[in-house]
Amino acid sequence: MALRTITKEGDPILRKVCRPVTEFNERLWTVLDDMAETMHHADGVGLAGPQISYLRRVVVIDVGEGVIEMINPEIVEVSKETQYCREGCLSVPGKWGMTTRPVKIKAKAQDRHGNWFEVEGEQLLAQAICHELEHLDGKLFIDIVEEWLKPEDLEEQDDRK
Ligand code: NI
Repeated sequence: MALRTITKEGDPILRKVCRPVTEFNERLWTVLDDMAETMHHADGVGLAGPQISYLRRVVVIDVGEGVIEMINPEIVEVSKETQYCREGCLSVPGKWGMTTRPVKIKAKAQDRHGNWFEVEGEQLLAQAICHELEHLDGKLFIDIVEEWLKPEDLEEQDDRK
């Protein structure tokens, strides 16, 4: 496994729409392993392909319950009920803002072998799934921030994605 360089806001790679994964082979598994290592090393809770300059539809998420690998993920259902989230991004270091996200979400994705599965997430996991999937379509949380947080608001903030 190896750490990958995390792309930063301003890099046009972060604004590309990623292509689906079609081959579930060792090359993909290396990317997924590197993504998890890079995410953990940076203390993030999620990382998407474009953040390591890999323009395929892959994300890894770990909100403290183990790594979830999602390949070709799609949102299936979102709750009407929303949450007001503190949000950041490993590609946007030092910036934090408030976003509105569904409080619950259901998504489907393929695992590293190509098998489809479903994930149901609430609160931080729902937020992370939304945030990471948006990366695959070239969207960043800064596009939807409703209120930026000031440095003094950030002391207990640690939900980087
Ligand atoms: Ni992000």
